[in-house]
Amino acid sequence: MYIKGNTFIVTGGGSGLGLSTAQELLKLEANVIDLKNTEESFYKGREKNFLFIQADITSEKEITKAIQQVIEKFGKNIRGVINCGGIGGVGKTVGSNGMPLDLDLFKFVVNVNLIGTFNVCRLVAAQMVKQKPLEEGERGVIINVSSIAYQDGQMGQVSYSASKGGIASMTLPMTRDLSKFGIRVVTVAPGPFETPMISHLNERSKQKILNQTEFPARPGKSDGEFNKLVIHLIENTYMNGEIIRIDGGIRLGKL
Ligand SMILES: NC(=O)c1ccc[n+]([C@@H]2O[C@H](COP(=O)([O-])OP(=O)(O)OC[C@H]3O[C@@H](n4cnc5c(N)ncnc54)[C@H](O)[C@@H]3O)[C@@H](O)[C@H]2O)c1
Repeated sequence: MYIKGNTFIVTGGGSGLGLSTAQELLKLEANVIDLKNTEESFYKGREKNFLFIQADITSEKEITKAIQQVIEKFGKNIRGVINCGGIGGVGKTVGSNGMPLDLDLFKFVVNVNLIGTFNVCRLVAAQMVKQKPLEEGERGVIINVSSIAYQDGQMGQVSYSASKGGIASMTLPMTRDLSKFGIRVVTVAPGPFETPMISHLNERSKQKILNQTEFPARPGKSDGEFNKLVIHLIENTYMNGEIIRIDGGIRLGKL
């Protein structure tokens, strides 16, 4: 699929992986919508190709309204959605005080990461199926963001890993659901990337992670590594139904 002139929604486009993706898409002359918040400075002067919409990914009402706003500004062909919106979440199944994990905390993380991602997928896909197909009948692409924690989850990551495992597991059934409409689904599972989400980790924890990284033994770069993978996945029509780790060969055992 071509990027230039096409319309892409990036959730969580205000920071970290989403921001670098939104910026790269804009450089490639796409129309870009950031759902949530954004760095005003970057987008100044680019209003023609950029729209910022404040919307919660877990809300049917807000995402439906956002899609309407996108159509009003850029027309009805939304060619892709990159679901970078998400949160972390730490807490053990039973804490050191003997108390079970607060169920509301577990539900909150799963609600934002898994249910929020699915909510955006289903509503955008329902719009995509109505669109005019491109070459080979392709209508659009959905790129979801899981995490290596879907396979290598650590102590305290039970909610986060459950949410990211759900995102990974829905890749194939969603691909199969949408295949007849020419809509592709790919999931990216990043290792550690220097973004606000992991800024709370202390140096010791970061080093422990990096000790289990092959090459290069450093955090990934949002700009040039994560966003370049997303661009490739959009452009390469044969990429479908896959979960891709981007992690320098890291395989986390028990830290
Ligand atoms: N940074 C990493 O090391 C790393 C590793 C693996 C996976 N991930 C995943 O990548 C994605 C992006 O993370 P990041 O590191 O860029 O973090 P980030 O905190 O910089 O960005 C997350 C974005 O999601 C938005 N968001 C949160 N809740 C939302 C909601 N309810 N509705 C709409 N937007 C919402 C935030 O506003 C923010 O812009 C997340 O899903 C995260 O789990 C990150």
